[in-house]
Amino acid sequence: MALWGGRFASGPADALAALSKSTQFDWRLAPYDLRASMAHARVLARAGLLTDDELAGMLDALAKLAADVESGAFGPAPDDEDVHSALERGLIERAGPELGGKLRAGRSRNDQVATLFRMWLRDAAGRVGTGVLDVVDALVAQAGAHPDAPMPGRTHLQHAQPVLLAHHLAAHAHALLRDVDRLRDWDRRAAVSPYGSGALAGSSLGLDPEAVAAELGFDSSSANSIDGTASRDFAAEAAFVLAMVAVDLSRIAEEVILWATAEFGYVTLDDAFSTGSSIMPQKKNPDVAELARGKAGRLIGNLSGLLATLKGLPLAYNRDLQEDKEPLFDSVEQLELLLPAVAGMVATLTFHTDRLAELAPAGFTLATDVAEWLVRQGVPFRVAHEAAGGCVRAAEARGVGLADLTDAELAAVHPSLTPDVRAVLTVAGSIASRAARGGTAGVRVAEQLADLRATAATA
Ligand code: ARG
Repeated sequence: MALWGGRFASGPADALAALSKSTQFDWRLAPYDLRASMAHARVLARAGLLTDDELAGMLDALAKLAADVESGAFGPAPDDEDVHSALERGLIERAGPELGGKLRAGRSRNDQVATLFRMWLRDAAGRVGTGVLDVVDALVAQAGAHPDAPMPGRTHLQHAQPVLLAHHLAAHAHALLRDVDRLRDWDRRAAVSPYGSGALAGSSLGLDPEAVAAELGFDSSSANSIDGTASRDFAAEAAFVLAMVAVDLSRIAEEVILWATAEFGYVTLDDAFSTGSSIMPQKKNPDVAELARGKAGRLIGNLSGLLATLKGLPLAYNRDLQEDKEPLFDSVEQLELLLPAVAGMVATLTFHTDRLAELAPAGFTLATDVAEWLVRQGVPFRVAHEAAGGCVRAAEARGVGLADLTDAELAAVHPSLTPDVRAVLTVAGSIASRAARGGTAGVRVAEQLADLRATAATA
């Protein structure tokens, strides 16, 4: 049923109706539309536009409709243009055309949809935040289960310096906790209700937008009705944070994919979180991680598509804005699929700590420790860096590790390189020495994990 038609001699062409229709995706706003309609009925009554009896009848019909929507007894019909039209039809079926026809006074689908979309997104952001925290918990639990395991830290994917596996896993947890913080921070800006803005200019009927806002859980109502109906930065910002979550998951995913290869051999994936091949019987594939990596592209697309829709759009409402919802619905839906799978994959990884420990010093990852030891002997870093490089060259030429250089070989590189330097040529010594705030030393990492647990528990 259309909400307009008085000035038209004919109905819409089938092609227009098909193009215009949005119930196939906006039906999920129905429960929010009904809550907002109840709040709207109350402000209509307070403004003297509904009698007490009419208000009671209206709320009763809306409650029945809400129950029927919930049970599935009422749904959109082929002729309904959008969720708002469908629900007005449902209301009129239950309250009669006289009373049912009164609810639309003082509101427009423009302020309705902007409000309902915010309500849906705020709930969805809460669910996504919880899902992200489950991944954080899985990372912190794995870190806590391997408090002293070293691994080769990498830059440019090349061996760089040894770090604790727990430090590396905690780095991913920090990124995800910032995403949760972003969702909370976004919510503060999103908690403004456009209801009462009407089509664009506000209402002349003495309605109270602040009362509606409070009833719907918003902090306030829009200060500007044009901004209320036409702005979608709340949606774009949410799309960004959701894309950022996906990008952060994709970075974990890429590492798991590498780590599970025979060449790395850092981890074994649990059977419940890996897949087989239809032809190669031996295969155990990291599909969860690959889907995480792949879906990040999709969420970035949802963000860029929405920004492209908004670019250059004149004020106030334009129908282009109907295109705002599907990208966000999709981003949330994808993350709701992805987050539990990634949390499960991380929680069930088996780390091969012997392999990680064996590789930790490989590739001369202790060369920086040699240079810093020389600095502590008073050698300028520029010279120390050269000397440590000389040790690498000498060791590489002989096919041995830095700790295997003889006293004579060390002294030949630089006179300050006494046998005492061997004290820092162990992975454990190197890691323990990086004990300033933020460093990979075990004491610092233990503090970090405690902080992460506390932050996650209160987030
Ligand atoms: N379905 C529209 C949307 O999602 C709301 C309807 C506004 N339509 C209109 N002709 N003003 O944005």
